[in-house]
Amino acid sequence: MESIKQEFRPRVIPIKWQGDRLILLDQRLLPFETRYVEAKTVSDVADAIRNMVVRGAPAIGIAAAFGMVLALVERDVKSVSEALDALKGTREVLSRTRPTAVNLFWSLDRMYSRALELASRTSHVGELKEGLEEEARKIFEEELEAEVRIGVYGAELLEDGDTILTICNAGGLATGTGLGTATAPIYVARLLGKRVSVIVPETRPWQQGARLTVYELAVNGVPATLVADTAVGFVMYRRMVSAVIVGADRILLDGHVFNKIGTLNEAVLAHEFAIPFYVAAPTSTIDARSRAADVVVEERDPDEVRTAMTERGRLYVTLRDVAAYNPVFDVVPPKYVTGIITERGIALQPLHRSLQRLLERVGAL
Ligand code: MRU
Repeated sequence: MESIKQEFRPRVIPIKWQGDRLILLDQRLLPFETRYVEAKTVSDVADAIRNMVVRGAPAIGIAAAFGMVLALVERDVKSVSEALDALKGTREVLSRTRPTAVNLFWSLDRMYSRALELASRTSHVGELKEGLEEEARKIFEEELEAEVRIGVYGAELLEDGDTILTICNAGGLATGTGLGTATAPIYVARLLGKRVSVIVPETRPWQQGARLTVYELAVNGVPATLVADTAVGFVMYRRMVSAVIVGADRILLDGHVFNKIGTLNEAVLAHEFAIPFYVAAPTSTIDARSRAADVVVEERDPDEVRTAMTERGRLYVTLRDVAAYNPVFDVVPPKYVTGIITERGIALQPLHRSLQRLLERVGAL
């Protein structure tokens, strides 16, 4: 594991913590422009998450964790109880930014529980703040550890010459670490000398595939081929895909997987063509409480569908006033999932049993 961490040198780090501010790579501008923005307040962090400066389930969770720290940096809090009030309000504000990725809520709950724990032991606001900063750093570090492990487990599934179909960007840009979840098995396989390549659907409407994954893979020297989202069935039919690996925004204990819109299409088609369909995600993406019907699927501005993001900014590709519907995630029923690659091993069918066992092992149930 350590040697992989040392050998894999991510070229793009989208989240940097500087003690009193977050530095975020603005993912709305990639791949055309590399611009970092500063988030110094909770409201800056909330805007950055809502407007997708920072995006991807684990990266949103990490940004939110540091957002909790900023709650105590930006105001002159006099007592621990005042600090707890500020943190409670911040948790509320940040939890309203995006509804689907569970890592956001997981991270906010973890930060708030840590604050309560610290508050029971100290009356110094400074100590509380330091403890929270350490917790946020830990969330960030644990994410990287988890991805290295996902990479090692996932790489064993891949063979020299394999072509992986993915979706969206579940790479280092989406997790903050530079390694990613769906991309980790690919990067590790290549470090092990397996010549693995990737097919990347553009992932309309926000074009995470075309703008982010293609860029990230190119920067890291991985051969990638961009296809239109509508070409997914055909590349499978032509036997151009050895396996599908996608990320996840939320995995339910019964095996339902919420991920970027279009993931369901890939899963059903992979099933039809007998191509293994894997989900790569840390256990922090598992939601042990909700049922599929409870999960809010985010719907974003219909203008995202009416426009395309280009080198010259957002341009309309249709009538400006046409009715448009923009759900940005979908859900894959468990029967389509071959396995879920986590840092604790690969959960195989029946998923409800293997996920349960896995969480029991982590002590999360
Ligand atoms: O809307 P986004 O870009 O935040 O959606 C991202 C995804 O759907 C990713 O696949 C998911 O968050 C996993 S990231 C490792």
